[in-house]
Amino acid sequence: MLLDLSGKKALVTGIANNRSIAWGIAQQLHLAGAELGITYLPDEKGRFEAKVRELTAPLNPGLFLPMDVQNPDQMQAVFQRLESQWGQLDILVHCLAFANKADLVGDFSDTTAQGFRSALEISTYSFTSLCRLAKPLFSPEASVITLTYLGAERAVPNYNVMGLAKAALEASVRYLAAELGPQQVRVNAISAGPIRTLASSAVGGILDMIHHVEAKAPLRRTVTQQEVGNTAAFLASPLASGISGQVLYVDGGYCITGL
Ligand SMILES: NC(=O)c1ccc[n+]([C@@H]2O[C@H](COP(=O)([O-])OP(=O)(O)OC[C@H]3O[C@@H](n4cnc5c(N)ncnc54)[C@H](O)[C@@H]3O)[C@@H](O)[C@H]2O)c1
Repeated sequence: MLLDLSGKKALVTGIANNRSIAWGIAQQLHLAGAELGITYLPDEKGRFEAKVRELTAPLNPGLFLPMDVQNPDQMQAVFQRLESQWGQLDILVHCLAFANKADLVGDFSDTTAQGFRSALEISTYSFTSLCRLAKPLFSPEASVITLTYLGAERAVPNYNVMGLAKAALEASVRYLAAELGPQQVRVNAISAGPIRTLASSAVGGILDMIHHVEAKAPLRRTVTQQEVGNTAAFLASPLASGISGQVLYVDGGYCITGL
């Protein structure tokens, strides 16, 4: 069987620029034939919108909508448009996260309650909200994908509160896979190795993390957005029809290493 997503409707969240993992995913889904809906985080000056619109134009997205996951009305509006224009959803990609920069450096015990709440609301609860809104629209054999990191299960310096957000996200994958499985919807996470992006640049010492992976991972390198995108396309396709509730590592093998 070849990887073929033609005729599938895919909603991709989390593209900020051409370094975004979501951009790597959107390109690979498009190459495999999927029709894309893109959401972007709106800002007052419209800079994100302009950048993401220009970047994604060659992929001819059928939907292009603002969505701040802290704005429930905006989230609902996305799914109302999706229902009226597409009627159903085959692929949902949750590829967004946020934590205060101050909470991504230094001692974990210094995390503030506000920082804890916003990291988990934006990075974790948003995944559950998206699945709830998409639930009535999922086609049989739909695939849901989110992005996580090894800091969910190991104490990675400076990753701090985002590690908790990812641990809760991985648990959400299992609960949502159990809930949506009877309607044949699969829910999985990709645990990507460190990649330089806007979000990762907020994590203290990200370059040291990348160099460490380059020295220690079995493949002696970290991964690219395109490699993560290829795995997302696989998970979105019938080739992965038996896989649900899993965390797949796309990290050059780093997670298996000991010393
Ligand atoms: N870069 C890495 O090393 C790495 C590794 C593993 C997992 N991840 C995960 O991959 C995902 C994508 O991150 P990235 O590294 O591509 O960085 P990125 O900065 O390109 O993407 C993060 C996205 O989150 C969006 N976002 C932030 N707050 C939002 C809100 N309130 N509403 C809607 N969108 C919001 C931003 O607009 C941006 O598009 C994240 O979940 C991240 O934790 C990244």
